Amino acid sequence: MELHFTLNGRPETMEVDGSKRLLDFIRDDLGLTGTKEGCGEGECGACTVMLNGEAIHSCLTMTGQLDGGELWTIEGLEQNGELDVIQKAFIKKSAVQCGFCVSGMVMSIKALLLKNPHPTQEEVKMAIAGNICRCTGYREVKAAVQEAAAAQSEEE
Ligand code: FES
Ligand code: FES
Repeated sequence: MELHFTLNGRPETMEVDGSKRLLDFIRDDLGLTGTKEGCGEGECGACTVMLNGEAIHSCLTMTGQLDGGELWTIEGLEQNGELDVIQKAFIKKSAVQCGFCVSGMVMSIKALLLKNPHPTQEEVKMAIAGNICRCTGYREVKAAVQEAAAAQSEEE
């Protein structure tokens, strides 16, 4: 099928197999390997990307579902060589260890802050409930989200 979509803010048209997993399309066809495969079953959140403003599991999404949509991957967050406020906050609050879960975690938080720039701790907990981290405590991640939310409001 001919797929029309926006990738990290740029319009794209590509001939694709619409039944391919979106995760494989992103990693293999687009070459964007920041999005990771953990469980492959919708359980770990490592494959999370943002489609039309929602955090989704790309391992459970077909590429055809992207048609006409707006896709953001972790690679799109850095702008003009500068990391996104969420990425900076993760570094500042030491919320990264091996890093495997981080792109998915950051994309879940990106979707949360787009809709809700000042989330409560409970809302943060809900937003990252589907993202499993085997290294860092979630306390650091929650602190990073509050840091990012504060930095974002200062920028506004
Ligand atoms: S790889 Fe998609 S949720 Fe685990
Ligand atoms: S930092 Fe290693 S799994 Fe989260």
